[in-house]
Amino acid sequence: MKVLVATGKPFSKEAVAGIKSIVEGSNNEFILLESYKENSELLEAVKDVEAIIIRSDKITAEVVEAAKNLKIVVRAGAGYDNVDLEACTAKGIVVMNTPGQNSNAVAELVIALMIFINRGQFTPKAGKEVSGKKLGIQAFGNVGRIVGRYAKGLGMEVYAFDPFITDKSVFTNEGVTEVSSLEELYSTCDVISLHIPATPKTINSINYDLLSRMPKGATLINTARKEVINEAELVKLMAEREDFKYIADIAPNNAEELTEKFGNRFFATPKKMGAQTAEANLNAGIAAATQIINFFTKGDRKFQVNK
Ligand code: 3PG
Repeated sequence: MKVLVATGKPFSKEAVAGIKSIVEGSNNEFILLESYKENSELLEAVKDVEAIIIRSDKITAEVVEAAKNLKIVVRAGAGYDNVDLEACTAKGIVVMNTPGQNSNAVAELVIALMIFINRGQFTPKAGKEVSGKKLGIQAFGNVGRIVGRYAKGLGMEVYAFDPFITDKSVFTNEGVTEVSSLEELYSTCDVISLHIPATPKTINSINYDLLSRMPKGATLINTARKEVINEAELVKLMAEREDFKYIADIAPNNAEELTEKFGNRFFATPKKMGAQTAEANLNAGIAAATQIINFFTKGDRKFQVNK
């Protein structure tokens, strides 16, 4: 089998070496396409491979069409909104992610961003402490739970909302307070951290109505996807509320406008870096390679997302 690693944003050298060793160790061919700039390079590289490992790289219907031998795509990471699931399913291609493997890296960044924006982006101006404040976690999955633990260590009160979790012990075991609606989460919490995927239901869902419920001195942290924010309504709210801060690991489309209008109440990392640690690269990369080998040798579909 030919296994392609196609990463516009490359893995660390150690992660690449680890993936290569797993792929070649099971007598498969390893192919690497790193830091590519044009989609045409991806289209060429996928031509005769059976498996692909990606990060935020886009697996479109066109890519699927070009990849005549493709059997499996593994998104080394959590969110798979970059993969055309319908196109893959139509061709019988299995799509997987590697849940949890990069979560700690993202959670650590959430804490860093929260402190950075509350300390005036590290300028000498008097900032705000997070201890004693209320943190609301929207979607209590792998990343959200770790964020909750770290926030409690900082002396924050932690609240969470996740309608997909029916087992209430998840919240009690983590020592966080579950709220029963999004509106309640936003009305209660000084800081909100988003951990929702980008789906037709969540896109544009973080809007004026929700954000305007947050108490004075509010901070919104987005390490999820830029698409979930209603950007025009965010601008409206930030124009009305001089106390409101927004920090993101995915630059919004209107980043320039936000910087111009709101100065140090807004910051976005220059390139999405939540999962960009040596540890996360290695964990997610190795998991992806192992899942591919297990799929081919044992038919293991444990992490399939297009069932
Ligand atoms: C994820 O969904 O796993 C994160 O957003 C990380 O994405 P990346 O691998 O493109 O950095």
